[in-house]
Amino acid sequence: MEIVSTKAALKEAVRKFRDNGKSIGLVPTMGALHEGHISLVRKCLEENGCCVVSIFVNPTQFNDKNDLLLYPRTPEEDCRLLEEAGCDIVFTPEVKEMYPEEDTRVFNLGPVAEVMEGKYRPGHFNGVAQIVSKLFYAVEPDNAYFGEKDFQQIAVIRSMARELGLDGINIVAAPIVREKDGLALSSRNRRLSPEQRKIAPKIWETLCKSCKFAESHTVAETIRFVTDTLDATEYLRVEYYEIVDGHTLMPVREWDGADYVVGCITVFCGDVRLIDNITYKRN
Ligand code: PAF
Repeated sequence: MEIVSTKAALKEAVRKFRDNGKSIGLVPTMGALHEGHISLVRKCLEENGCCVVSIFVNPTQFNDKNDLLLYPRTPEEDCRLLEEAGCDIVFTPEVKEMYPEEDTRVFNLGPVAEVMEGKYRPGHFNGVAQIVSKLFYAVEPDNAYFGEKDFQQIAVIRSMARELGLDGINIVAAPIVREKDGLALSSRNRRLSPEQRKIAPKIWETLCKSCKFAESHTVAETIRFVTDTLDATEYLRVEYYEIVDGHTLMPVREWDGADYVVGCITVFCGDVRLIDNITYKRN
């Protein structure tokens, strides 16, 4: 496994694989790797001749300075896990390598970037588009892998790729990986106290219960069921729960309002912001 920290070295490392006829897969990450990331790496290795993983805590996507400061960083452990998984190239740039000057690009990401996370984390998706586009230009991957926990992020990245004419890059969405008790794996889970960690699986448990509830209730009632149940639980506070069309991310008012219906949630568990989602239907 080759570890590089400049774009020039990255391009050179990738070129050797491409010259040998290998397809290139990219897994962009912010480090603090867990089994969810490793499942993306495995999928990437199955589907490509070369797997590149980037580890970079991207400052432009944090609209909260404290969140950026507290974001977990475990570079040695990350490299150990990647080596074990069989990754070919790890890219670990410093901030000034990715942003030698301020990135003033403002993307026109459309409505998919304005709802939910877009409303609560202004500027977040523009920052994601900035860094992912830089990684796409540097690696020029055939396939790029993202986890479905960040359901909206995938739609935003597809929109960014279309806007920049990078639609030759196949964007692959991979299923959420969960702990045995249902909690979606996230680098942020490490920040939960033992008491909060015990409570956090209630998020997925409630989303699962809402599927049964939805069989005999309206969309609005189901939203209320989820929010009221979680808000009544110690440590938990729902920021939003929206039931949306899985393609457009626009709110759905009736269960038959779309053929792909997804519930997207953000919940604070203490001061740790957790996100998750559930599919109600997909025809
Ligand atoms: O999902 C993430 O970890 C980040 O948003 C990403 C895609 C690596 C961009 O910094």
